[in-house]
Amino acid sequence: MTLQRLTASGGRSARDLVEGLRLREGVGGRPRVAAVMIASADGRAAVAGRSTPLGHPDDRALLRELRAQADVVLVGTGTLAAERYGSLLDPDQRARRKALGLPEHPPVATISRAMDVPDVPLLHEGVEVLAFTESDRRPPRGVTAVRLERVDLPAVLAELGRRGLLGVTCEGGPGLLREVAAQGCLDDLLLTVAPLLAGGDEPSILAGAALGPVRLRLAEVHRADDHLFLHYRPAA
Ligand SMILES: NC(=O)c1ccc[n+]([C@@H]2O[C@H](COP(=O)([O-])OP(=O)(O)OC[C@H]3O[C@@H](n4cnc5c(N)ncnc54)[C@H](OP(=O)(O)O)[C@@H]3O)[C@@H](O)[C@H]2O)c1
Repeated sequence: MTLQRLTASGGRSARDLVEGLRLREGVGGRPRVAAVMIASADGRAAVAGRSTPLGHPDDRALLRELRAQADVVLVGTGTLAAERYGSLLDPDQRARRKALGLPEHPPVATISRAMDVPDVPLLHEGVEVLAFTESDRRPPRGVTAVRLERVDLPAVLAELGRRGLLGVTCEGGPGLLREVAAQGCLDDLLLTVAPLLAGGDEPSILAGAALGPVRLRLAEVHRADDHLFLHYRPAA
């Protein structure tokens, strides 16, 4: 395996990498789910409750490029709150989407079975926010409730597919990603390893009960400075 350098020049390499996923084509008529996560070298997905201290400009570029090329961003309510979601894309990415006839911002889908969506900047930025729920509670302003009899990942993805949203970038967090993996809904995992040891009791990129396990194969490796970018796909 040859290590390749992922450069930061205008996010171009991130753009090429994401284009290679062909996200918006889906998989056999169903949505394609590409998850993007970052972890410390000791496997922690957060430092003091947030992922920002783990970051690198190229990781940020990758995250934003996935959003730029997605039909929908899927993110858990814990992450919306912890990361104070807002300002999803750079102006040139919004312009690129507009030129393709896409909404300037991809819609954001979250899951909140009890309809408990945090009030974050995103809700006030004109972005369509869908909350999959089993509850009759009124959603907060800026959120559209999508009521399902039973909210699980296959049902959520089926509904996104019905809406023609075939390219899904899943930004975690660990609770949501566990469900994506457990339900066999993960197509690509873009995992960045940050060069630091965090310790403590923050979760790994997956939280919750043990999995089968889900086996992966390594499709690509990139690096930027001391950060490592691993692209996994589920093993056949
Ligand atoms: N390092 C990284 O790349 C990264 C990325 C994102 C977040 N984080 C960190 O992770 C932390 C937040 O993560 P979290 O795990 O607390 O929250 P989360 O994964 O963002 O939210 C949990 C989500 O999972 C859903 N869920 C749980 N069980 C489910 C099931 N059986 N079926 C369908 N949906 C289900 C929850 O829905 P309900 O409300 O219905 O239960 C909720 O939306 C923060 O510290 C954040 O900084 C790190």
